[in-house]
Amino acid sequence: MTTVSAKEITADQLNPEQFIEEKATEIAAAVGDGVAINALSGGVDSSAVTMLGHRALGDRLKTYFVDNALMREGEPQQIVDIFADLGVRVELIDAREEFLAALEGLTDPEEKREAVTQTFYKDIFAKLVRESGAKYLLQGTILTDVDETVAGIKRQHNVFEQIGIDPEEAFGYQIIEPLIQLRKDGVRKVAQASGLPESIHNRMPFPGPALAARIIGAVTAERLDLVRGATVILETELAGVDAFQYMAILHDDRVTGMRDGERDFGLQIEVRCWDSVDARTATPTRLPWETLEKLSARLVNEVPGVVSVTYNLATKPPSTMEVV
Ligand code: XMP
Repeated sequence: MTTVSAKEITADQLNPEQFIEEKATEIAAAVGDGVAINALSGGVDSSAVTMLGHRALGDRLKTYFVDNALMREGEPQQIVDIFADLGVRVELIDAREEFLAALEGLTDPEEKREAVTQTFYKDIFAKLVRESGAKYLLQGTILTDVDETVAGIKRQHNVFEQIGIDPEEAFGYQIIEPLIQLRKDGVRKVAQASGLPESIHNRMPFPGPALAARIIGAVTAERLDLVRGATVILETELAGVDAFQYMAILHDDRVTGMRDGERDFGLQIEVRCWDSVDARTATPTRLPWETLEKLSARLVNEVPGVVSVTYNLATKPPSTMEVV
């Protein structure tokens, strides 16, 4: 299965059932009678790969959910439960301490992304590979991840070969990427055809570096709690909105506010909500003013220390969808 010079299959061209059959056959041939592992985050990409891999390998695919301390409220157990209902056993790995330690003291966006990448592939995964005896990692890299990394826009956490890193040499295992020819809209079709529920096949994208991509500056347990709380509120208030993706971002700089008649040099949350087809370009959703007002009121009242809420109006490009 070649991953380096992948030819795009557009969502229109895609026949999902045929794609599933072909990829399952290719995975089975590549892995032979060996064992493979994969990490499931619950996003549509890793979920589709999990289904393809289990179809190809059955129990010879070991699926792990790595709790990296950067996930949304309740997310690890929710995802494990959804897959249990589909008959797919997912082992939950608690790696919160390792990731927080790796992020400690880092503020530069690319250094933060690199720390998440290295901890994931070199520490956590290399250990899981050793323990399971797997020689292969199945991974849900899609064409947009490759494009943006190769263009030097943003180092996606899951792109190696295309930028000259040999995973076998760097980490000691090979990576199989069955979705590399697709973009998000194509992956959704594959996910639906493979029997995943709507909460997964229609799931809003969530980045690999997770909430670390939504914190400007230092990522600490306390700051993660703040952005996690803001995310619960935002996802509740915008649940009915037809948008590609929405997110709450914790800024690094503080602004002067007032609370109970006193000065409060407080925190800022930025709200972003995007219309997009494939994440390559995006425009801010024209949210109703009332929705923004209610969201803002909840964020300042319920997230400790927040005195400012802003809504991003810039398009991608020149913006990107995440802030880090
Ligand atoms: P950007 O911020 O690059 O985001 O405009 C485009 C889409 O990709 C998601 N994203 C990521 N996904 N690993 C991922 O798996 C990453 O490092 C990453 N960074 C951004 C983002 O949420 C959006 O849907």
